[in-house]
Amino acid sequence: MATSPVLDNIPNHVPPELVVRDFPFSFGATTDQIPFDSMISGVHANPDIFYVPELAAGGEGGWVLRRDEDMRAVYNDYEHFSNRDTTPFPQFTGGTWRVLPLESDPPLHSAYRRFLNPVFSPKVTQALDAKIRQYARDYVEGFKDSGRIDFLQQFAFEFPIKVFLELMGLPQGQVKQFLDWTGELLHAPDVETLVRATREVVDYLRGEIEDRKINPRDDVITRGVQAKIDKEGRPLTEDELLGFCFNLFVGGLDTISTNLTWQFLHLARNAEHQELLRSNPAKIPDAIDEFMRIFASVMTFRVCVKETKLRGITIKVGEKVAMSTSIAARDPAAWDRPDEVILDRKPRHLSFGYGPHLCVGMYLARREMKIAMEEFLAAIPSFRLVPGVTMITALHGVMQPDTLMLEWDV
Ligand code: HEM
Repeated sequence: MATSPVLDNIPNHVPPELVVRDFPFSFGATTDQIPFDSMISGVHANPDIFYVPELAAGGEGGWVLRRDEDMRAVYNDYEHFSNRDTTPFPQFTGGTWRVLPLESDPPLHSAYRRFLNPVFSPKVTQALDAKIRQYARDYVEGFKDSGRIDFLQQFAFEFPIKVFLELMGLPQGQVKQFLDWTGELLHAPDVETLVRATREVVDYLRGEIEDRKINPRDDVITRGVQAKIDKEGRPLTEDELLGFCFNLFVGGLDTISTNLTWQFLHLARNAEHQELLRSNPAKIPDAIDEFMRIFASVMTFRVCVKETKLRGITIKVGEKVAMSTSIAARDPAAWDRPDEVILDRKPRHLSFGYGPHLCVGMYLARREMKIAMEEFLAAIPSFRLVPGVTMITALHGVMQPDTLMLEWDV
């Protein structure tokens, strides 16, 4: 990939040979190609660490790491790399809240996780299995005789919203509203839409938090309202409660729908993998882990808070570092045949993050994806892509396509 001479908008200390202008995953980028086919392996022609002048929202530049090893080091190095103020949402409402626990650092972050981890433990999430399976079954029953669906629009978007509403104790009738909000928050066409949607979600969540104070129930919001996060028994503040609810909302919806969609694209293009998993459902959990590696879709950021060096390169205070799980997942130094799907690889991937901020919802996410695949493959015969359909994929943040048309014989 081409590197360019240093121009405006690039800090003086950045060596010109480390500047990359044609990074495909910058803010606002989209493609009509399947990004996993060659775009990610293309990034691995760059230096280990490189600087992209217009990487993030507002044209802000930043560093990109492409080595799994470096990503792990930065995820664990909260002395030099902070998570504070790494999302744009709080500033849109002019409030003092933060997206939590994502936008916090240890030691406060550790206190937050002590409260949140048990709420999403494997045991607790397993107890939701029957409901999750019923939701998946209802969708599949609804479209199996049609012989053709938009997998994303008719299934993958809504299914995790149903589970989320269940978990948070919110009415199932809100599915459409949440669907609209998710789209607007994560892929808004303009800033006005983003600001309006953020305000609406914040007002709605604040209302639900107030309600749980008066009407406690068996749900995650009530557990937050009743939580004590330190030895002195401090309850969560209003801003912290909002931050938690907001983080679960933005963290747990698009991610699952996106990953499911890439997994089903792969199955539609690879009949032998599809048949193998249909006839051996016990192989689905391992397959999902490999799919999570090869179709890793999430990129978040860190901000440097204390000058440091990575592979001899100086990173200065205030500079952003992109943590792209998609790129780390194809690092040729970390993986044997990185671009190949090896269903029983059992990879130790970074697709749910690593270190203190490791995804809170990963057990739930794995169960949702597993159950969705089991139910779909059990009910739907051999399926394929509808020919001639172009998928447009948003490449920044969560790498999300806009459609996945599947068809099968009925
Ligand atoms: C396939 C689905 C999912 C993927 C790929 C995914 C990915 C990630 C990643 C990469 C991080 C780390 C971000 C960072 O360190 O900058 C993260 C954190 C987080 N995720 Fe997930 N996630 C998924 C599902 C979920 C679900 C279902 C929930 C909750 C219902 C959830 C809630 C969170 C929260 C709250 C954090 C912040 C954790 C912290 O800061 O300590 N995620 N996720």
